[in-house]
Amino acid sequence: MKTHRIAVIAGDGIGKEVMPEGLRALEAVSQAFGIQFDFKHFDWSSAEFYQKHGQMMPDDWFETIKDFDAILFGAVGWPDIVPDHISLWGSLLKFRREFDQYINMRPVRLMPGVPGPLANKQPGDIDFVVVRENTEGEYTNLGGKIFEGTDREVVIQESVFTRIGVDRVLKYAFDVAQSRPKKHLSSATKSNGLAISMPYWDERLEQMAQHYPDVRWDKHHIDIMTARFVLQPEQFDVVVASNLFGDILSDLGPACTGTVGIAPSANLNPERHFPSLFEPVHGSAPDIAGKNIANPVAMIWSAALMVEFLGAGDATHQAAYDAMMQAIEQSLEQGPRTADLGGQANTTEVGKAIAAQIEKAA
Ligand code: NAD
Ligand code: IPM
Ligand code: MN
Repeated sequence: MKTHRIAVIAGDGIGKEVMPEGLRALEAVSQAFGIQFDFKHFDWSSAEFYQKHGQMMPDDWFETIKDFDAILFGAVGWPDIVPDHISLWGSLLKFRREFDQYINMRPVRLMPGVPGPLANKQPGDIDFVVVRENTEGEYTNLGGKIFEGTDREVVIQESVFTRIGVDRVLKYAFDVAQSRPKKHLSSATKSNGLAISMPYWDERLEQMAQHYPDVRWDKHHIDIMTARFVLQPEQFDVVVASNLFGDILSDLGPACTGTVGIAPSANLNPERHFPSLFEPVHGSAPDIAGKNIANPVAMIWSAALMVEFLGAGDATHQAAYDAMMQAIEQSLEQGPRTADLGGQANTTEVGKAIAAQIEKAA
């Protein structure tokens, strides 16, 4: 079996604490399923690297990692040292854009045994996936300031919606919806306020829907969609959204399932021309960093999504993915749990328990 070459970038804050648990789970996968990984660690994309070099990554970052099979990423951001727009545009957002990872898949699931904040919800009631556009939309560095420092100061931040960019994320989302039992797609819009970009998004949605007569679809203005996430999460199956709307929905969804500490993401280049990137949805959490109390489940679940993607349908990889998910579910249901879920275990204890469970699976 092929050895997977993985670029490991732990980054900042709790990224450095949850990454060892993601790797521990993958080592358990190697033991149990014979899937081999070759991990290469990079200290880029961190405040320390920035302090030493005045930039987040070396100039040859693209050449250095473009031939890896995947990137496993912790979190980046340490605003006391580097302003967030510098650190993010200097690392994570570069990966997404330059490796054309135009799909950001973010599953949201109420897990057995996890007390969520919404009353009377059972596992199964909240089980959807946010398919977020990941390379354009509201996330641009286009625009600028004029008359800076005067009363006439003007700041412009452009959005970009290309036909290729919108169509490919809509197509991907319809394909995901078609593959799921409920075959239901919900699209986030705001065509009442954003008078150019969102009517265009909706128009492309209607066009794309014609190719999927078996998929039921609807659209929701983003404001009421956030309310429906809280009030009727059962109605969602696949949610497709632009970059910014998808970002917001993919923190809100996990919050409705109890914690952002379990939410995974897969930044995909579906054509596999470039490495895809797997990372927790959450950030570097400066408020809890350095205490070894962060929940490692988001990192381990992201590593599981990586195993599944690398396998591309191979049965052994699928079995390893299933074992990782069962181990995660067991730890969430029976413990040990971290403090965000009301438990008392630390990051390492939860990671070790999940790895031990994966090893038993083969
Ligand atoms: P955050 O996700 O880092 O933290 C938000 C809250 O959730 C905090 O109270 C934190 O303690 C808690 N939390 C997050 N992950 C947790 C975990 N695994 N276990 C338990 N609790 C957890 O968001 P923020 O505070 O807005 O951002 C902090 C920094 O991270 C900023 O620099 C931001 O730009 C960056 N950030 C990076 C990413 C990324 O790398 N993908 C994502 C989001 C934010
Ligand atoms: C995420 C993060 C990033 C985003 C930030 C840190 C740029 O919030 O991965 O969700 O907005 O995409
Ligand atoms: Mn986010």
